[in-house]
Amino acid sequence: MTIPKISDHRIKGEILRILRQDQKATAESLLCREVRITPESLRKQILELQEAGYEIQTSDNGFQLIHEPDNPYPWEFPGREPFIHYFKELPSTMDVARKMAGNGCPDFTVVISEFQSTGRGRLQRTWHSDAGGLYFTIVLRPRLAPVHSHCINFAASLVLAKVLQRIFQVDAKVKWPNDILVNELKLSGMLSEMGIEANRLSYVNIGIGINVNNDPTEKEPNAISLKKLLGTRIDRRRLLSSFLDDFQTMLSVTPLENIIPQWKQHTMTIGRHVKIVTIKESYEGFARDVSDSGALILEQKDGSLIEVIYGDCFHG
Ligand code: BTN
Repeated sequence: MTIPKISDHRIKGEILRILRQDQKATAESLLCREVRITPESLRKQILELQEAGYEIQTSDNGFQLIHEPDNPYPWEFPGREPFIHYFKELPSTMDVARKMAGNGCPDFTVVISEFQSTGRGRLQRTWHSDAGGLYFTIVLRPRLAPVHSHCINFAASLVLAKVLQRIFQVDAKVKWPNDILVNELKLSGMLSEMGIEANRLSYVNIGIGINVNNDPTEKEPNAISLKKLLGTRIDRRRLLSSFLDDFQTMLSVTPLENIIPQWKQHTMTIGRHVKIVTIKESYEGFARDVSDSGALILEQKDGSLIEVIYGDCFHG
């Protein structure tokens, strides 16, 4: 597979920006002048866009954009092009992101795949990754002690819930630790991995799967997609772009100690009876609170309090 030059992404973004402004065909000479490329390279770029799924009509009058796909191609995120790595298919975006992190990729590198053949979920589960969903991993390089790494996961689920509420007016809530549910059904799940060097975090990779235009299978009876919820297909580019912008802003402006208190305002786990299942054990009780370290504080039948630091949560 050949990795396109970064400037190719910017050129495609520019061509699309100009074509989108015009209801009619845009003249070749105008496009070449504005984008500052030769007619030969313009035609090459147009051909590549057509191959990527953009319906661009070619006539004597120039080029007209008839229809565009919602694929999260790098050129659909102006300013982020060098940081977006888009793949048609991968076993898992987590593996590629881990390799990139190990090779020194910059903060906020994003690895996206249209399909994952072996998408991973938490607690060694499979994450079904059919066409139409959003599957991506963000490589972060936070200047934090490892003990604070959980704040990043809480920030990610908080931001995603808020973006879903704002853009689509859905009642998105966070289920401890990081699932997003709407009407008790799972819309999104998160997985994180970190690397530690000399007692500092070298990277935190946040992998996110969102059911957008895919139809969850019978194997996922408790899942829902945005398409199903809203009765229409959703532009995945808009959702991802809003999430990346808001997540980056939150990480840069929000003091760490404010993240969990804000997250609590968007969770549906606290204040109800829950069952927590880990690979080895399970606990049941009333979810009293979430501690500053991100643990769920459970009040057991006998009144004793325990702190559970990981597990799958089932609401009773
Ligand atoms: C869960 O709810 O169990 C976590 C699901 C995480 C799925 C995402 S999809 C992108 C990234 N790549 C993976 O293989 N998994 C995460």
